[in-house]
Amino acid sequence: MAFKNLSGCWTILLILGCHHLAPIAGNSVTVGQHNIDQILESTELVLLNFYTDWCPFSIRLAPIFEEAARQINNTFWESGRVTIGKVNCDKEENVALKFEIIKYPTLKILRNGMVVNSEYRGQRSVEAFYQFVAQELADPIKEFRTLEELHDINDDTGLLIGYFMEKNSTEYDNFRKVANFLKKECQFLAGFGEVTEGLRPDGQNLIIFRADSTLSSHREYYSEYSGNLSSFDDLMAWTDDKCIQLVREITFNNAEEITEEGLPFVMLFYDKNNLQHVQEFKTVVETKLSNSSLVNYLTADGQLFQYPLMHLGKSVADLPVIAIDSFRHMYVFPRYEDIHKPGVLQAFIDSLFNGKLHHQLHYGPEPSTAVWENDTSKADTVPAVVPESQFKQLLPSPHRYTLLNRTRDEL
Ligand SMILES: *[C@@H]1O[C@H](CO)[C@@H](O)[C@H](O)[C@H]1NC(C)=O
Ligand SMILES: *[C@@H]1O[C@H](CO)[C@@H](O)[C@H](O)[C@H]1NC(C)=O
Ligand SMILES: *[C@@H]1O[C@H](CO)[C@@H](O)[C@H](O)[C@H]1NC(C)=O
Ligand SMILES: *[C@@H]1O[C@H](CO)[C@@H](O)[C@H](O)[C@H]1NC(C)=O
Ligand SMILES: *[C@@H]1O[C@H](CO)[C@@H](O)[C@H](O)[C@H]1NC(C)=O
Ligand SMILES: *[C@@H]1O[C@H](CO)[C@@H](O)[C@H](O)[C@H]1NC(C)=O
Repeated sequence: MAFKNLSGCWTILLILGCHHLAPIAGNSVTVGQHNIDQILESTELVLLNFYTDWCPFSIRLAPIFEEAARQINNTFWESGRVTIGKVNCDKEENVALKFEIIKYPTLKILRNGMVVNSEYRGQRSVEAFYQFVAQELADPIKEFRTLEELHDINDDTGLLIGYFMEKNSTEYDNFRKVANFLKKECQFLAGFGEVTEGLRPDGQNLIIFRADSTLSSHREYYSEYSGNLSSFDDLMAWTDDKCIQLVREITFNNAEEITEEGLPFVMLFYDKNNLQHVQEFKTVVETKLSNSSLVNYLTADGQLFQYPLMHLGKSVADLPVIAIDSFRHMYVFPRYEDIHKPGVLQAFIDSLFNGKLHHQLHYGPEPSTAVWENDTSKADTVPAVVPESQFKQLLPSPHRYTLLNRTRDEL
């Protein structure tokens, strides 16, 4: 809980004084205003440690980070594809500002000059850093050499398949870059030369998207890219639109990232012994709800997320449970079965935005005038009958790590 302990950092600074804490020379590259642009332009993967000399958490991380940088350099140096760098935030205020650093140490991942995840959230150990880099640098594309291989793929995620004339081309490089960004969302496959003949127009490359077969979580089943194959931005936008699922599974690993997107959660807490409800929920979201991007649709293993469930007055025995977490309050959808009644779930979600839910919270279920959910004028006088949000604690704040009770970020 580095941010929470910022005051601790200052206290220790006063006791120890900075001069005891000589910067550690090592294998990571000192990054600052003078070289950051050049590094971001020329390196595929950059992992940056934003630190200060006075924060004990930074000091404890330093030797681990340097050893990781040494090992990573040993293995991957020749490829020139990765830079492990450190930014002294006291000396490089502009760089720290640009990356919106609010706590030390913060680890950021950049790919082709773009911030991938807001933060590295894995374990802070030599082994974990090394594995992370190895995984990030692994080829995100699986090559197929016969068409039979295409039939045998496990298609429980969306697929992107590239039919290329040759591997050595700008268009394939683009596909590979896009795959690096979206490899967690979709599977990427590519074939070259003869094996792709007849599957693509003569003298041209072709990229297609095919939705997963088992989960109805994509908008379209099949689509061909008709844009400019040489444009990374265009291909990225198209692929992103195809791959990103309307309904996502929330886990302890991705909860913070999803929370940071800032959209209210519409969540299904399900029993993992009855996955049929997940399927039902996805189908309803996919086919019955307006596809506006005002909320995040999520599924959550009720066993794993017992704690927020408990705050709704529910237990595993009550599953499935649908609830909205608005980051202020949580609201339970009264009867799960009603998702099959036309418009009922949509109305429940809509009422979040026209204030009915908030109104009911304070006055009981007799809505008349719209009260914005963010209107706090009455909140102090009327006791809340709806539990507080359990996920707002994951928003960037001093308490962000408390809900999940994790220890991995507390180096
Ligand atoms: C990485 O390793 C190479 C080869 O051993 C060496 O020349 C280079 O200086 C190292 N880079 C860093 C940043 O330590
Ligand atoms: C890749 O293509 C470029 C330009 O078309 C060519 O100069 C280069 O030799 C090719 N590389 C390989 C490994 O075929
Ligand atoms: C395709 O994109 C590339 C790279 O952005 C650009 O140079 C090229 O002019 C584009 N081609 C067309 C036909 O728009
Ligand atoms: C849903 O998304 C599709 C494709 O993105 C779009 O064409 C359609 O207008 C959207 N419908 C609504 C109700 O937003
Ligand atoms: C609440 O949010 C809505 C929409 O963003 C805004 O129009 C309204 O002014 C806000 N109300 C208050 C009291 O902040
Ligand atoms: C949080 O973790 C601590 C130590 O790891 C444990 O003692 C405590 O019971 C946990 N709290 C919850 C709510 O799980």
